[in-house]
Amino acid sequence: MELLKILTLLSVITYTFCVDHGNFKTCAQSSFCRRCREMEPNKSPYVLNFPSAQITPNSVHVELWNNEEQVVFNLTLSALVDNTFRLQVEEASPLRDRFRSLYALKSDPVLAQLEMVSRNEDEITIKNGDNAVKLIRSPFRIDFFSDTEFVASVNARGLFKFEHYRKNDQSDPAANDAENADANSEKKITDPGAWEENFKSFRDSKPFGPSAVAMDITFHGASHAYGIPEHADSLALKDTKDKTDPFRHYNLDVFEYELDSPMAIYGAIPLLYAHGPKRTTGVFWNNPSETWIDIKSSSNSENNVMNSIVNFVSGRSSDGEENKDKTVESHFMSESGVIDVFFLLGPNPKDVIREYARLTGVSPIPQYFALGYHQSRWNYNDEDDVMSVSDNFDNSDIPLDVIWLDIEYTDHKKYFTWDPIRFAHPRIMQQNLTSQGRKLVVIIDPHIKRESGYFLHEDALANDYYVKNAEGAVYEGWCWPGSSSYLDFLNPVVMSYYSSLYSLDKFPEATNDMYLWNDMNEPSVFNGPEITMPKDCIHYGNWEHREIHNTYGLLQVKATYDGLIARSKGTKRPFILTRSFFAGSQRYAAMWTGDNSAEWSHLKISIPMCLSVSIAGMPSCGADVGGFFKNPDNELMIRWYQAGAFLPFYRAHSHIDTKRREPYLFPPEVRNLLRDAIRKRYVYLPLWYTLYHEHEISGLPVIRPLFMEYPSDPAVSTIESTYMVGSSLLCSPVTSAGASSVDVYFPGGSDELWYDIDTYKQYKGEGTVTVPVDMAKIPVFQKGGTIIPTKQRYRRSLTLTHDDPYTLIVALDSKGEANGTLYIDDNESFEYQKGKYLYLSFTFKNNVLTARRIDQDATYPANSWIERVIVIGYSKSAPAAASLKIDGKKDIIKLPVTLDETRQHKTLVVKKPAVKMTQTWSITL
Ligand code: GLC
Repeated sequence: MELLKILTLLSVITYTFCVDHGNFKTCAQSSFCRRCREMEPNKSPYVLNFPSAQITPNSVHVELWNNEEQVVFNLTLSALVDNTFRLQVEEASPLRDRFRSLYALKSDPVLAQLEMVSRNEDEITIKNGDNAVKLIRSPFRIDFFSDTEFVASVNARGLFKFEHYRKNDQSDPAANDAENADANSEKKITDPGAWEENFKSFRDSKPFGPSAVAMDITFHGASHAYGIPEHADSLALKDTKDKTDPFRHYNLDVFEYELDSPMAIYGAIPLLYAHGPKRTTGVFWNNPSETWIDIKSSSNSENNVMNSIVNFVSGRSSDGEENKDKTVESHFMSESGVIDVFFLLGPNPKDVIREYARLTGVSPIPQYFALGYHQSRWNYNDEDDVMSVSDNFDNSDIPLDVIWLDIEYTDHKKYFTWDPIRFAHPRIMQQNLTSQGRKLVVIIDPHIKRESGYFLHEDALANDYYVKNAEGAVYEGWCWPGSSSYLDFLNPVVMSYYSSLYSLDKFPEATNDMYLWNDMNEPSVFNGPEITMPKDCIHYGNWEHREIHNTYGLLQVKATYDGLIARSKGTKRPFILTRSFFAGSQRYAAMWTGDNSAEWSHLKISIPMCLSVSIAGMPSCGADVGGFFKNPDNELMIRWYQAGAFLPFYRAHSHIDTKRREPYLFPPEVRNLLRDAIRKRYVYLPLWYTLYHEHEISGLPVIRPLFMEYPSDPAVSTIESTYMVGSSLLCSPVTSAGASSVDVYFPGGSDELWYDIDTYKQYKGEGTVTVPVDMAKIPVFQKGGTIIPTKQRYRRSLTLTHDDPYTLIVALDSKGEANGTLYIDDNESFEYQKGKYLYLSFTFKNNVLTARRIDQDATYPANSWIERVIVIGYSKSAPAAASLKIDGKKDIIKLPVTLDETRQHKTLVVKKPAVKMTQTWSITL
């Protein structure tokens, strides 16, 4: 048996650079997916029992009948604030309680007023504001309208399904024959996997039988679908129906995951966007059990050809009209739980993400250091190694904010311990890093080594903290430490116990400058079905693992978050990186795209992967810079550092078998380019930080696909290699080998101006331009009409830049105007929530640059000041001097203005205004 376990382990850790498909189910191998996907359309047995309808000020409650099986369900449709509706369907009298997703929503959604519009025997129509919903009796259907436009329908294709819990009479052959089945009224589920399912050598005992919930949602006037991460696939979702498996949501540790694939990987956020040039609608399917989603967009499919023919014959050609016929069809299929689905009626992509953030929350602004460069590796060998990495960054003048320790720092993979020889003085090591302005991050995985004498294992056994197997004994799986058990985070006592482990008196030698990485939290189980926990394992409250699977990682990071808050007595913002995530995880952690590979294709896909996660509410996404598996060549290494500098989470990480690759180890010409990329990240840090503040207010992601910024431009629908940081930087990093140019799409039309951030060369928003690149070039462009705050002094880490002065980069639009914002606080605490911050706006108009406070009541004693203002695209003749006025006073200070001739576009530089960030001021050119 031991030998078998070791062989399984070896087969998993010896990576082969291609996913082992045999380890993971297809839809056809998954009983419930098969049952849902094979349904015949347009034969829905579901009808609404209108006489039962009750209409309250916020909701419609009505029975939904399955006429074929004579089963009654309760349907509730509620109006919520901010263009949102919630649809809930539950069994009226279940044999067993069904799991309701508890952790995605940040709090109870806020209900809105609902008005009755009309009611007859076949239809009930209600409305809220400009949105109306029509419930249709038979066959059951729900239509959503926004501003009188028909935007979405539920069950238009008749694929709604709710498998009620039933008694297992499979073993009774008499009950199984067709005649008896009819007499029983309950239709037999004949699928062989309904009551017990086998996959490879694994048996899922399914004691409660089939319990799938599924629904089709059709979006009208929509041409493209986005969202539903995490998949290693394109930003615009490809069609699945008839072509591939559906997109799968089942958090899994997939070694060497495959690109361009709908296969499940580590995380799952069931938020789908259906987008057309006129409007965008979102759907959030709040179900944490295994879920598959079929997508079919008419823009991708033959329908499109059909539309063109119809349009041609009918003479219809205007874009709006064409779009009317376009649809995105979706089919959500989950293994268990209830139906709890939110309709986010937009109408713009930025409205959809705000509406979603209102339900599931936002990420609190991270500590400033977390936006810097992180150096990780599996593993830094010992304390000397860590300190020499830190020193070498200094010796090579490369900024660095965080060093990471992977699993080998522990005493034989026992988390919350240190290797007594190699990490004998971890507190001193942390203090040394702190004195260099740096932090430490250590890994803590959720599997617990089953070793007698290990305090955590002993506590968990003594207090019954572990997840159980189907027989009720403690579940035992295999992970990094060998034989392991798994904490049951569904138990609130386990949550608070786990949180307490992070306190300074429990986590030996920890300091407040040590932060956390929660990995393997799908959870990964090397010898489990599909490398995870069996679905028939039992959690606290008697829930099966199948019901909660996709939220296991969310619960671990919530406990860690609470622990870090308690550790600093609520004074420091936690930093946590998680691999597995679900809707709501953004409230606690950043994520990364897991075990990628040092290949160009993996660099390229990191952008659409992070964009998909960003529009699904998680703003902090990164990919292992350099690639986790294999060794990158110099060119790939440089390009990865350049691309990573413009994604939210910037961490280099690599597998234990790879060659050491800290940037200072490279020959000078490579090292200099790596340093330049990291420095460029640091120059734009004030912009990133401001965008995180704005995310916290509005829910808007920090990086955005072009369709979110330019929703009515159909040309951007499938662009994923060019994207935006906020609304001001257009980024198109080089992601292919040997590139001498990149094709950049400049959006916005001929009135929109874009400036190369290095040369200030101007481009107009007229479409695709081939931009030449050399090895030093990161193609990034500032939008005309924006003002970006930067810091241009080089330091070893961000902590040391807090009081450094700012350079404002004012890029003028075609009217000679620009606007921007800047957020400043203490970079680390929660004092900003009490108003200790500065949120400033800068406006350039009629030749005057004005700074004022946006939040008048907020204040922070910033020591920083403005050392330079650069104005790009100035079309008038350059003035010899500028006049500065401070705090509305009459005195005018003359400032020298120089014309920067080194750049390609006319650029004025106003030197040393030396105004403090706490002052209000204006500069007239
Ligand atoms: C997983 C992580 C990887 C880490 C390794 C060892 O594979 O994804 O980043 O280095 O485990 O902890």
